[in-house]
Amino acid sequence: MNTTTLATPDSEAADLSDLLLSVAPVDMRVLSGIQPSGDLHWGNMLGAIDQFVQAQNDNEMYVFIANLHAMTSQRDGDALRRSTADVALDYLALGLDPDKVALYRQSDLPVVALLAWILECLTPTGDLDRCVAFKDKVANGLSANAGLYNYPVLQAADILLVNAQVVPVGADQLQNIELARATASRFNVAYGAQVFNLPKARVNQTRLVPGLDGGKMSKSYGNTIPLFATLAEYRRLINSIATDGLPASAERDPQTCKVYALLSLVAQAHEMQEWANTYRNGGLRHSAVKARLLELMLAHMAPAMQRRSELQAQPWRVEEVLRAGADKAARTARPVMERVLHLVGLDPTSLANIPPSGFIRREAAPQPRGWGM
Ligand code: ADP
Ligand code: TRP
Repeated sequence: MNTTTLATPDSEAADLSDLLLSVAPVDMRVLSGIQPSGDLHWGNMLGAIDQFVQAQNDNEMYVFIANLHAMTSQRDGDALRRSTADVALDYLALGLDPDKVALYRQSDLPVVALLAWILECLTPTGDLDRCVAFKDKVANGLSANAGLYNYPVLQAADILLVNAQVVPVGADQLQNIELARATASRFNVAYGAQVFNLPKARVNQTRLVPGLDGGKMSKSYGNTIPLFATLAEYRRLINSIATDGLPASAERDPQTCKVYALLSLVAQAHEMQEWANTYRNGGLRHSAVKARLLELMLAHMAPAMQRRSELQAQPWRVEEVLRAGADKAARTARPVMERVLHLVGLDPTSLANIPPSGFIRREAAPQPRGWGM
């Protein structure tokens, strides 16, 4: 089954204007992440990564690879390692600048799992029962494990660990950000201290990018166009989009066409106006719209594809970026965690058992031959 649920927030819990930041963030602490649970696709780029790239110029920015979250659906260690490395390359190729963003692997800050535990102890199961992402994933065949159930609390821990103010995400993540807000507030009230900011979500205008089948494009639904697919793969996927079987001369409603929907993401408004006229007036060849979609998608991706293949040849540089990013995030997280541990009655000096950066420091970045990803 391919259910497509837009995770709308609980109306009773918060006003949307509290949850959503209505303008692009400036001078704020911004954090986001993506699970390495499959090849990143156009929905991930237009819904999320483009926002990260924009936000990095004017904000204190943290972007991570949510490899602990990916474990809710991935049981193959080598595959997880590979896709974690892939997402790092994708982020950098798509324009995240390590001089502006702390880019890290979630697991390089293992203290996030401790914070998640602390927050779980404050989270009513009823809140998790209402999460549509869990129900959706289970309906789509993922195992209903406790990690998947608690997924939103780990996500809250990611956000609260660095006390982020804004979380740029796609519209399907709103319910999780709302849960993070509720969790922050619950902690502050329970322990009588203003430790956590109440984070806001930032969703760009793209909203939800449709997949090849017209439903939400998602790694879980097998309906994606991967960003860094080969030319042959792009062609095959675009050609596989089902179209109506009407003769070319038929008059059509462009809004019902899946190819048109995707084309409108990459073509200029004036070009879309011309296509819309052709749809309505008859004379449309689907092969022509598909060819144009292919051309524009490839042109859009060309610079990133070039950067990605250069980076792929220098894996040790990517590793250095990730370690420096984890160091920076750990420095931000440390005072937050010290306060939290003190308030809940644990010993903040136990953080001393976690080396300075918050993770076990390996001696040196692996040399090219030792690269095991
Ligand atoms: P997927 O659904 O493919 O597993 P993720 O849940 O890992 O994607 O999403 C990573 C980020 O990309 C999130 O911020 C999410 O909101 C965004 N995103 C995913 N799919 C889409 C889409 N089809 N349209 C817009 N944004 C999306
Ligand atoms: N749930 C997000 C997704 O599916 C990934 C994620 C994990 C995340 N932790 C986060 C996003 C914290 C924003 C902030 O893509």
